[in-house]
Amino acid sequence: MTPHAADLILLKPAVRDQVHAVGKIDMNNDLDSFLDNLQEQIFDEAKDVLGEEGFQRWLNPRYRGAIENSDAHARIKGTCGDTMEIFLKFEDNQVKDASYLTDGCASSNVCGSFAAESAIGKSPDELPDITGKSIMEKLGNLTEEEEHCAFLAAETLKEALNKYMIKCMKKNK
Ligand code: FES
Repeated sequence: MTPHAADLILLKPAVRDQVHAVGKIDMNNDLDSFLDNLQEQIFDEAKDVLGEEGFQRWLNPRYRGAIENSDAHARIKGTCGDTMEIFLKFEDNQVKDASYLTDGCASSNVCGSFAAESAIGKSPDELPDITGKSIMEKLGNLTEEEEHCAFLAAETLKEALNKYMIKCMKKNK
């Protein structure tokens, strides 16, 4: 997978730490202004790709991480090679908690986060209403190139629901 420019910003503090640590070059105004310009460019590009809502979510990726003792967990590898995971915890026939994990790009993180958020409070009957399209609508914008990230998140959520339903059926036998 080609790293997306939107992901490169994460390197900035790491680059600075490295520069300080190895002491090979002095941190100076030129480097600071170079990094600030780079950050601005990456933020602008991320806003173009993800939309304002998606951009804010990328800065603060909520619902990321595994749920211990989840009732359902699904992992799907997309055609792009990235993996999406969804965890669901149910209580009183409703999703009490949901989360995602991905090794993919900024868009897959944002889509996983919105998929998990959309699932919370839903009953098993309502979960299929969460689709790639509804996730994209939550973001407000997603370039055509990145749309498959939303569909991967929705597909993984659907698979987690399937696993939960199978588990319930086995329990009720
Ligand atoms: Fe693969 Fe987004 S690029 S899921």
